[in-house]
Amino acid sequence: MIDMNKKRILTGDRPTGKLHLGHYVGSLKNRVKLQDEYDCYFIIADLHTLTTAPEKTGELKENIRELVLDYLSIGIDPAKSTVYVQSQIPEVAELAVIFSNLATVPRLQRVPTLKDVMRDADIKIPSLGLLGYPVLQAADILMVKADLVPVGRDQASHIEVTREIAREFNRLYPLVLTPGVSRAESLRTPGVDMGSGVFPIPEALIPEDIGTLPGTDGRVKMSKSAGNVINLSDDSQAIKKKVMGMYTDPSRIHGTEPGNVEENPVFVYLDAFASETGDKQHVTRTEQYKERYRKGTVGDIEVKEFLFEVLEGFLQPLRKKRAEFEEKAELVDQILKEGTERARTEAQRTLADVRMVMKIDY
Ligand code: TRP
Repeated sequence: MIDMNKKRILTGDRPTGKLHLGHYVGSLKNRVKLQDEYDCYFIIADLHTLTTAPEKTGELKENIRELVLDYLSIGIDPAKSTVYVQSQIPEVAELAVIFSNLATVPRLQRVPTLKDVMRDADIKIPSLGLLGYPVLQAADILMVKADLVPVGRDQASHIEVTREIAREFNRLYPLVLTPGVSRAESLRTPGVDMGSGVFPIPEALIPEDIGTLPGTDGRVKMSKSAGNVINLSDDSQAIKKKVMGMYTDPSRIHGTEPGNVEENPVFVYLDAFASETGDKQHVTRTEQYKERYRKGTVGDIEVKEFLFEVLEGFLQPLRKKRAEFEEKAELVDQILKEGTERARTEAQRTLADVRMVMKIDY
């Protein structure tokens, strides 16, 4: 919980749908580890979804619930970490308005994700909100004075904008200490050493290249829009169907021909999940299957059946946990309510500091 000695982390997701195995490998697994060492905030960034799909608000509530269940099922622990919904904290919007004066339009036009998102979402002309996406994200991060922001490489440019905004804010509105009054006493949220300013300059925590998980169709990336995902919440039947239909080594026609293990999604998944089931046999058996596959002494079906066993070994406990939380209808709401309260307290403190140094605390 709130521990001044722990560094603070903020990261999160837009509630656009269910999380899949690619999310687990790319970020969720790491978040579970981080929660022991850091004071973690996980933001469900519903306002950010408006930047590309302002018409799709009808699905948000259900998506948020699914996202929280995904978090809980993999082991994000509300007793250790704060999970909250962005739009429930009005101070985020207030801070974003202030920050929007500290980033120029050409600077934001140069953020590389802008043109990627415009292409993917088929947007010809960006709205002010879409252009300001990184500014809103800066408000998320600085609102809780996060020190570290674990994100994928694609988000690095947004953290850079956050750092620029934090520096510019600190430069324009330096914290003038009254003689005899310590920094800790003059700020509502002392935190770690922030130099002369209200805000720390947060750092992106980008994972070493763990490699992206390919789709079930062999495409480089698992993504909802490509329809090649295995969701964390899929049931056994769905897993079986998806695994048995998976793409393997296209150059191999019979199980009696030597096959390629590298870049073969079935083996990429085995490498990623055999060690996640708690059964050591799964790791050794993966190596045996690789050897046989290379030699041409095992067919695709047998390997896929093994992958199904491994994925079930990983997903069964998640399903159990998810069901426990689903059973008690009000539990998810309760977790969000408590998370929101904690985050909002931080937000209000930060806003008090901001208004003070800006001299608009009238
Ligand atoms: N932009 C992030 C994404 O699309 C989601 C997000 C919103 C976020 N606010 C954040 C991530 C703050 C880290 C910190 O994945």
